[in-house]
Amino acid sequence: MSGPAGVPTLDAYCVEDLRETARRRLPKGLFEFIDRGNDDEIAMRENLAALARIKLRPRVLADVTERDQSIELFGRRQQMPVIIGPTGSAGLAWYQGEIELAKAAAAQGIPYTMATGSMTAMERVAEEAGGTLWFQLYLWPERELSFKLVERARDAGFEALVFTVDTPVAPGREYNLRNGFVIPFRFTHRNVVDVAMHPRWLFGVICRYLLSGGLPRYENFPAHMQTRITALPMGRSMATNPSMCWDDVRALRRIWPRKLIVKGIQHADDARMAVDCGADGVVVSNHGGRVLDSAPATIETLPSVVEAVGRRATVLVDSGFRRGADVVKALAMGAHAVMLGRAPLYGTATAGQAGAMRAIQLYRDEIDRVLGLIGCHGVSELGPQHLAMPWDDKAPATVPPTAAAHGTPAAATSGA
Ligand SMILES: Cc1cc2nc3c(=O)[nH]c(=O)nc-3n(C[C@H](O)[C@H](O)[C@H](O)COP(=O)(O)O)c2cc1C
Repeated sequence: MSGPAGVPTLDAYCVEDLRETARRRLPKGLFEFIDRGNDDEIAMRENLAALARIKLRPRVLADVTERDQSIELFGRRQQMPVIIGPTGSAGLAWYQGEIELAKAAAAQGIPYTMATGSMTAMERVAEEAGGTLWFQLYLWPERELSFKLVERARDAGFEALVFTVDTPVAPGREYNLRNGFVIPFRFTHRNVVDVAMHPRWLFGVICRYLLSGGLPRYENFPAHMQTRITALPMGRSMATNPSMCWDDVRALRRIWPRKLIVKGIQHADDARMAVDCGADGVVVSNHGGRVLDSAPATIETLPSVVEAVGRRATVLVDSGFRRGADVVKALAMGAHAVMLGRAPLYGTATAGQAGAMRAIQLYRDEIDRVLGLIGCHGVSELGPQHLAMPWDDKAPATVPPTAAAHGTPAAATSGA
């Protein structure tokens, strides 16, 4: 069965349906790596809870026959106000999952952000998927190696560099230890049985890699650092660097000629610093609740960051956005667009490109529906007048949305 735009529904009618299929298809260790947070998973839950506390205030009789969710981001028109965020494990969820996910993004007219820790070389993704590509960078302690990666991304035509700054030390993820995702990979009775009980994944993903040259590697690492997934903890992959500092943003600004985005901002002063150091944009992110478990929900941090830099830089937000309504709330609060992490990964794990397209389609349909239901003709109209915040006990006055809340080309393309 196909959805309205010809994308197969895959019997998934919301992101949670895709999550449930991914849970069944993937070995527990891999599913938990994708799905879970860290420590007690308070931040992960709070991201969702805070979004649920915010309400949208409908206006009626507004003739919403025409509804437009396209936006202009960094000078480019895109079909909807979301971006595929960096998640280094699409290539484990599906054979060559990064290519599948990037193709889905290109087909749906939105950018795809490729993670440093991907299993596919960035040049291959650029060649085979096309579309608007961004590259996410973890800065290794040996900075020269990271700078080489930046040069490769530049030469391969990536349009934005996303510098992730929220993980200076490794987060605590106890479930990875329990599941045996540690250095070196521990073949326990439990995880061998776990893999054996997921033959579709074993044959459809791992065996296909074995037949085409061996177990997946971190293909973007310099040759001498490329390591098979069985030799490092998943996701760790030398991502942490406690010596990161603002000079690193300045250095990246000097060597990266296109848009520079700092991801993992949770304080208005840090947003200001990032832009002062030359960033064109920031991502308000707590890494989907996967790093600091006492981090505030990003939707609650967003207004202060919009206030601080929204007029001179692009403000993106992620962490916990599972519904189109969540995206609409963030835009009404002044975000220019929303990054999606787990949702497109659940889709990729379900059916490769088709699953990722279904995930994106679900957001598109939901955003469209919500715009209609609140009496809004397009995301450029969204503003505080559409919000009912938890602390409001009366309808907010009609406030004309600010330029920052619009995601106007002027605001979205500013910066060095
Ligand atoms: C499995 C997984 C891997 C991730 N890997 C990276 C990464 O390599 N680099 C990065 O900046 N963020 C990474 N993230 C964080 C996402 O980019 C994003 O900030 C987060 O997933 C957003 O929250 P959401 O999953 O609730 O949408 C990862 C997230 C997940 C779930």
